[in-house]
Amino acid sequence: MKFFLDTGNIDEIREGLEMGMVDGVTTNPTLIAKEKKSFDSVVEEILAVVEGPVSLEVVSETAEGMVEEGKKLASRGANVVVKIPMTTEGLKATKILSGEGMAVNQTLVFSPLQALLAAKAGAAYVSPFIGRLDDVSHDGMELVEQVLAIFDNYAFECEVIVASVRHPMHVLNAALLGADVITMPFGVLSQMTRHPLTDVGLQKFLADWKKVPKR
Ligand code: E4P
Repeated sequence: MKFFLDTGNIDEIREGLEMGMVDGVTTNPTLIAKEKKSFDSVVEEILAVVEGPVSLEVVSETAEGMVEEGKKLASRGANVVVKIPMTTEGLKATKILSGEGMAVNQTLVFSPLQALLAAKAGAAYVSPFIGRLDDVSHDGMELVEQVLAIFDNYAFECEVIVASVRHPMHVLNAALLGADVITMPFGVLSQMTRHPLTDVGLQKFLADWKKVPKR
């Protein structure tokens, strides 16, 4: 299972890389806006340190605009994945860009049929947003299960990125389902490292170590 960080924050990415837990990065306009820096400088910083796929999102709403923007984004690095919203225009853009060899991450996917359309258009990745579905009382993980089943039925090579992750249980359940990738906020990755019994156990070991004669 690949771990992507869902962030535009370079410090979080560096920390995650040091932990060996960053196989790639996903960004979106909201995450970029949080950094209070220009889009160019955020992208430059990320691409300087991340070797795996880095999703950069287009903001045009027409297929023509998305293709033009996507090509510019893709020219910034061989590992750039063009992130395109799941709309009719987005599908047209995905077809064109994937046909020209560019990797596309179809984002804002909320139904299994949207994922099927994206895979048929040639997307390399689809991003079902599970947290936002949970927020409106739909089971986000059920969507992931259905998308994985459909892709398996037809042997689509499109990878499923479990997105809009809110807590470690999302990671656990996505892993149990065999999702290809999960993209998570840095906070969720940090939470996954911790367990109260680890802290208690470590304190006891350190306290007992002090009692051991050193010579
Ligand atoms: C995915 O690629 C998106 O950037 C992200 O997961 C959206 O998450 P949110 O629902 O927390 O905004």
